[in-house]
Amino acid sequence: MMTLTTINTLRTKLEAARFAAAREGRSLKVALVPTMGYLHEGHASLLRKARAENDLVVLSIFVNPIQFGPGEDFERYPRNPEQDLALAEKEGVDLVFLPEVEEMYPAPTRTQIKVSGLTELLCGASRPGHFDGVTTVVGKLLHIVGPDRAYFGQKDAQQVAVITQMVQDLNWNVEIVPCPIVREQDGLALSSRNVYLSTEERQAALVLSRNLLEVQAGSQAEEVLTASTLREQLRKNISLEPLAVIDYVEVVSFPGLEPLGPEERVDDQGQDGDILVAVAVKFGSTRLIDNVILTKKVNV
Ligand code: PAJ
Repeated sequence: MMTLTTINTLRTKLEAARFAAAREGRSLKVALVPTMGYLHEGHASLLRKARAENDLVVLSIFVNPIQFGPGEDFERYPRNPEQDLALAEKEGVDLVFLPEVEEMYPAPTRTQIKVSGLTELLCGASRPGHFDGVTTVVGKLLHIVGPDRAYFGQKDAQQVAVITQMVQDLNWNVEIVPCPIVREQDGLALSSRNVYLSTEERQAALVLSRNLLEVQAGSQAEEVLTASTLREQLRKNISLEPLAVIDYVEVVSFPGLEPLGPEERVDDQGQDGDILVAVAVKFGSTRLIDNVILTKKVNV
């Protein structure tokens, strides 16, 4: 394929391994930013943080078939490699790893990575097997590229929790760096899937960020709520939007993803410290996720 840019692209594991070997013995810090492409400002923010904190930045673009369930949008997932490479170049990415499906999963592939516990609730409940696909591909990418740090967005807060657990459990020597959610001016969390939304659905989708950001502001204003009141209020407010079909509205600890007791106050977190308020809601055929993390108030 002709590319419009001059950025270095690696398409095979062997090329990536040569890159990893070339830096052996040199004390260069390497960052990996794994993505599925169709890049936007959210991805760009990860690349910028990676650029600022490391010597070499590797971006991977791979629409990972095994994290999509039957009937999900693998085939129609938006793709635009030319535009992605242009963005990568603009953000000072050193290397782009762009493998084909056959390169990542030569048949037969019989091994998967599964993180138990953290993957059965929230998105894992409505997308069975999704996180096994994510951990398997991220594990493979980490091994192929061998970065010192890997960057992930809190937009997918459960993904961050699951991947952090995986690298801890398997003693991998890589730092998982979480990055804040990037939103449009009107609050909508950036997502490659936002292109699926009609004008009316996009307008309706603002119900998520509006209510979540209100919850966050309320928690900072010392408003005291129990977990169940918060969940019910949020559920009610989101249902007021006729186009919104709720998949889940949950309040759990973060990063442990433990359910909070119904009477547990959201300003009174357990050992985990933070609280994740997370929603998944369908607008037409498009399922959007969004969240806020409420951090523990330090009483001095
Ligand atoms: P993808 O959806 O392309 O997202 C790649 C990374 O960008 C993820 O870490 C995601 O959390 C982050 N991101 C997406 N939207 C964001 C936003 N609005 N603000 C901040 N960060 C944002 O997540 C995946 O791909 C895949 O599951 C992957 C990890 C690549 C494995 O296939």
